[in-house]
Amino acid sequence: MMLLLLTVTGFSSLRLSSSTPVTHVARYAASPRSVTMQHGGKGFGGGEATRDPPPTVYDPSDPKGKQQAIHKAESFAEYLAKRGGFSDSHKSGVCEPRSAAVSKVAPATAPASGSPYAELADAYFADIRRELALLMDNPSWDDGSLAPVLIRLAWHSSGTYDKASGTGGSNGAGMRFDAEASDCENAGLHTARAFLEPVKRKFPGISYSDLWVLAAYVGIEHTGGPSIAFRPGRVDWEGEHELLAGGWCNPMPRGGHGRLPGAEKYVAYDSADAAGRPSGWQKLCGHIRDEVFYRMGFGDREIVALLCGGHVYGRCHRGSSGYAGAWVEHPTRFSNEYATDMLEDEWRLVGHEDTWLDDMGAAELRPAAGNRQYVNKCPLGTGGDDANQMMLLSDMALAWDPDFRVHLEAFAADEAMLAREFGAAFKKLTELGCEGVLQPEVAAGGLAAAR
Ligand code: HEM
Repeated sequence: MMLLLLTVTGFSSLRLSSSTPVTHVARYAASPRSVTMQHGGKGFGGGEATRDPPPTVYDPSDPKGKQQAIHKAESFAEYLAKRGGFSDSHKSGVCEPRSAAVSKVAPATAPASGSPYAELADAYFADIRRELALLMDNPSWDDGSLAPVLIRLAWHSSGTYDKASGTGGSNGAGMRFDAEASDCENAGLHTARAFLEPVKRKFPGISYSDLWVLAAYVGIEHTGGPSIAFRPGRVDWEGEHELLAGGWCNPMPRGGHGRLPGAEKYVAYDSADAAGRPSGWQKLCGHIRDEVFYRMGFGDREIVALLCGGHVYGRCHRGSSGYAGAWVEHPTRFSNEYATDMLEDEWRLVGHEDTWLDDMGAAELRPAAGNRQYVNKCPLGTGGDDANQMMLLSDMALAWDPDFRVHLEAFAADEAMLAREFGAAFKKLTELGCEGVLQPEVAAGGLAAAR
């Protein structure tokens, strides 16, 4: 087979020796750390073809047994019962809201001040917080915590907001319906929703849209992140027709609605610039800014705060997104490790063809065919002793783009500042589009007791 070798030395010289377009290797130094790019030559990423496998099919190539865990999610109530059940005060039956006047579901219209939903006592939300904290540690799931997948559920339910039209956002819990759930970017989130079903059954007074957001807040706080004051009041759509009435979310069996970000969108990989960034990276930055976060009303600093706080949690799953592995060594506790590792480690672009990852005990970092991501490994052994970690192209954009990078560096230097700004940005994200329905903040409480 012919070999195409692309070498970029520093920022000026470019040497191309070519024999075949099958394998590309680009090495380069990107100030201030060095970043190396290597990948096989298949397609241009995106991974559509690998998305949305039937959720109950066991994937033997998934080293984390994700698909098995999905089975476990279905018997989650059983799991809870085995480990001692719900919080003591709710060992059996449904926990009605403590106000006798409260209906079982949030009202379909925006509640006026003093409406039944507004009368849900603070203690009711404290009980729900306790319940959520009790289920957060789950040894059968991924790295032992549900916090990451619940945080992603709240982010994806909120991240559809469009400021110009006022549509989308967490209000309505549209992801219960196929038109929104079937967005390929939402693959895997049915498990998060399933985990919360027993809580919803126990506490029917809270809407799904509130519950998804509250679960993320509890997950963040439970894992050492900032405490976020919760404002209830989101109202669930009664049927898919209410979601469709917004006009942005039309049924589509495959593909996305374009409102949630794609990790490799517009990246071409046919060449790299002097700093080693694959062609199209600026367009990816444009996607992150204009098509996603600016559309919602965020600025650059908030974008970086959201990503530093969001991707310190959890992992990518080959069976859901096609990407694979965790961003950080400790993916179940809040820190600024994502920011520091991004800046300090060496990152190399890989594709599914990079089987050398398996040989060095990093098979979990090999993405599905068609997807590309960065890893902290190199075929000659560098990074072999480090925990297996990855970055998406959209993560790398924060280090590549000078206007993002300045904030990344600030958060890498100051974890407390990240906690504050991530908490504020996540609260803003989860309240977008909820004007007119949100009630005053409920009193904090319920978490400390459950720890
Ligand atoms: C450019 C923006 C973003 C892109 C392209 C992106 C992409 C992704 C992808 C591809 C995954 C893997 C999903 C899977 O395979 O299960 C993921 C996971 C995750 N994302 Fe993001 N994301 C973005 C922004 C955010 C934000 C703003 C947050 C929260 C503040 C967030 C929180 C998470 C979490 C917690 C996970 C792990 C879920 C789990 O462990 O199951 N992401 N993201």
